Amino acid sequence: MSLQGKRIVVGVTGGIAAYKAAELVRLLGAAGAAVQVAMTPAATGFVGPLTFQALTGRPVALDEPVANGHGMAHIDLGRQCDAMLIAPASADFLARLAQGLAGDVLSAACLARDCPLFVAPAMNRQMWRNPATQRNVRVLEQDGVRCFGPQNGIQACGEDGPGRMMEPVQLVQALEAALATHVPEAGSTPQVLAGVRVLVTAGPTLERLDPVRALTNLSSGRMGYAVAQAAAEAGAQVVLVSGPTCLATPAGVERVDVESAAQMLSAVEARVAGMQVFIAVAAVSDYRPARTQTEKIKKSAAPLRLELLPNEDILGRIAAREQPPFCVGFAAETEHALEYGEAKRCAKRVPLMAVNLAQVALGSEDNELTLLDERGAHALGRADKLVLARRLVAHLAGMLNRPGQGAQPHETSD
Ligand SMILES: Cc1cc2nc3c(=O)[nH]c(=O)nc-3n(C[C@H](O)[C@H](O)[C@H](O)COP(=O)(O)O)c2cc1C
Repeated sequence: MSLQGKRIVVGVTGGIAAYKAAELVRLLGAAGAAVQVAMTPAATGFVGPLTFQALTGRPVALDEPVANGHGMAHIDLGRQCDAMLIAPASADFLARLAQGLAGDVLSAACLARDCPLFVAPAMNRQMWRNPATQRNVRVLEQDGVRCFGPQNGIQACGEDGPGRMMEPVQLVQALEAALATHVPEAGSTPQVLAGVRVLVTAGPTLERLDPVRALTNLSSGRMGYAVAQAAAEAGAQVVLVSGPTCLATPAGVERVDVESAAQMLSAVEARVAGMQVFIAVAAVSDYRPARTQTEKIKKSAAPLRLELLPNEDILGRIAAREQPPFCVGFAAETEHALEYGEAKRCAKRVPLMAVNLAQVALGSEDNELTLLDERGAHALGRADKLVLARRLVAHLAGMLNRPGQGAQPHETSD
């Protein structure tokens, strides 16, 4: 049993589902975990701390530090455990977490923790669907917090929809699985790419037709920026060649802005020497107009025919170099994604290809990725792009460390 001996802090916040936390704590104990419960003041209005004390055999951490003997609970709680699980997590608590507030002992413990944090939201369906809650959850996921649920169904208020807390038995299973495959969040990331030089491309490219019009695509650049961030978090020296996006440059990343596919190729070729890894995430335009008009093309009733010329294949060019860096490609397909992805991996002779469905990936915050390498397909699941990028970096680091890959971190003089 993978929870055997694990030290789990269960944080209970103020919602009707607080009564289910008692069963959750019981099941965690039965699975061999040592459980410490912490409650917000609001939670104690729903279930008495005595219930949890009886179930765990430990005093509950409350907002009365002197009275209950948890002198530095706001710091110690999240430092002396293998994971924190907030169940139920109220809308208010998620908002506080997303903002980094520390006004109660449980919020402060979350902020001071050095362990993975999981939340099981439970609230009315409108509260869950509210853009503010959705925004808070996105922020938390970007910060590495994992969200379990919520589920659809009949709610305590009588309404039907999303917002029910996952059942305790499912939460125990989810926690077990998550701890088995946990990728540490920012700040505690193992430096698996320490000193490795990584070149990443991101975003769309844009091909000008005339001074006011252009051909481009729906790529937001988020996936590539997430990959650059995840690589930098893992200790890599990252150069990001970016097509037009409105995204902020990730911390510690050197960014080079380009517009067209030709400019992207030039920027990549100018910087690829000395790089150990090249990750081509950009949605590079396959074609460009044969001519860019210097004056605005005038509207007329006649059909307008555009002649398009194929662009260079940037990944193919880099992978075909005499001594290529370790190349990672991205394939966005609308159908038969794995089949086409593997064909692309073989045709371009790259060791690793990340495949996604264009209709899921383009422009959205989430993605669903599968990695293809010589050992087969590795599903990374569906999640926020930064979460997936961190999983990709972990996989990439594993491949680099295999004997014969020749991309170990090293000092170079160029
Ligand atoms: C009867 C009642 C039930 C509530 N149920 C929920 C709930 O299920 N989910 C939720 O997010 N908030 C719920 N609330 C609101 C929270 O209790 C409130 O936002 C509180 O400040 C949360 O505090 P905490 O996050 O510190 O525990 C409920 C409030 C009341 C009075």
